[in-house]
Amino acid sequence: MRPPPCRVRRPAASPAWHRPTRSYGYCAVALLCWGAGHRELLRHRAGRVTWTGSPTERLSVQRDGEAAVERAAALLGAGFLVAFPTETVYGLGALGLHVAAVQRIFAAKERPASDPLILHVGTVEEVEGLVTRVPDRARLLMATYWPGPLSLVLRRAARVPDCVTAGLDSVAVRMPAHPTALSLLRRVGAPVAAPSANLFSHTSPTTAEHVLADLDGRIEAVLDDGPTPLGVESTVLDLRGDEPVLLRPGGVSHAHLEHILGCTVCGPALVPDSAGFRSPGLLTRHYSPRTPLWLFAGQDAATLARMSRTAAGALGSVGLLLCTEDLPEFTDLNARCFDLGPRAHPEQIAHRLYDGLRTLDGAGVTAILARLVPRGGLGDAINDRLVRAAAGEIQS
Ligand code: TXA
Ligand code: MG
Repeated sequence: MRPPPCRVRRPAASPAWHRPTRSYGYCAVALLCWGAGHRELLRHRAGRVTWTGSPTERLSVQRDGEAAVERAAALLGAGFLVAFPTETVYGLGALGLHVAAVQRIFAAKERPASDPLILHVGTVEEVEGLVTRVPDRARLLMATYWPGPLSLVLRRAARVPDCVTAGLDSVAVRMPAHPTALSLLRRVGAPVAAPSANLFSHTSPTTAEHVLADLDGRIEAVLDDGPTPLGVESTVLDLRGDEPVLLRPGGVSHAHLEHILGCTVCGPALVPDSAGFRSPGLLTRHYSPRTPLWLFAGQDAATLARMSRTAAGALGSVGLLLCTEDLPEFTDLNARCFDLGPRAHPEQIAHRLYDGLRTLDGAGVTAILARLVPRGGLGDAINDRLVRAAAGEIQS
């Protein structure tokens, strides 16, 4: 059941860094809303912007160019929630140093407060104000990969709110490579907290349609700039200890990180659901469709034959989320197929993975069958998402 439309007041207290621009922010939002014919959406009343519970506004970059980004920045700057594209997946943005705005992310996503958020920055300099120290390794990685799909976990500065870090002594920071995300962040001029823009534990969004399928009516706007190029989330790397620890495989590969750092990088491991997480977001069940996902591991023909028998024996029709070469094995079946692309092209598979999960999830099938891809590079990130989407269960 959908929750009642949210009524959002702009938070009463602003941190010191935000105060000088506050009244400009209100005026900008009010004027932009007026100009865009959205008077019913926001009412500018006695210094307050009130959300009236309308459906989420869709701002199209392809149609309106920088004007769409400008409006998204004005809404974010006024404390509202705006989903935006990054090179990995769509993020759900809010002012990252503004407690009330950040808390609304958790409410909209139904995300537990124990799962910390990544702060997105538009310049490297912003990181200095968010952490106690920028280690040399972090500087090297920022120079190599930023803007790009690498989130760095560093020791947090006191000004980063507890709700962003889930009370941890660390904070994750990242500069996304998507030109629209960068333009948005630079316009906002402050760190933006942004988890993936999906309901908690559900499949991540790679299009504005995916965002709206989960969050329509719960957030003020989505900045639509088409499908995200990479398709899986950033690599999360913990740089606090003597040895770097890979917390989540993603767009930057383990091997490449070791090559650049010239040292061993620990992990990643599929952490069981128990206390004492190094990264609270590493749950066994995550990225999951609502339809059961039956995941197979073997790369051989026997595994494919077993999958075919399982599909044939299933009640009702099944969904097949497979690489191009695997699909001919299933032509005789009453199955809905989603072609992820050739096995040798993990970048295509990553790009299509979440769309495939969501498409088959909406196709009314009894189960989705998938199998792991070859390991290494982006393959590790794809397999990590598949394993978590299947709640850690591999069919034997
Ligand atoms: O590509 C991405 O990283 C996307 C886009 C929007 O930037 N964001 C994203 O955020 O995937 P989210 O919240 O869905 O995943 C962030 C992951 C979670 O597993 C979280 O637990 C972990 O990063 N994380 C965040 N802050 C952390 C911290 N201080 N220490 C350890 N893990 C942290
Ligand atoms: Mg997520």
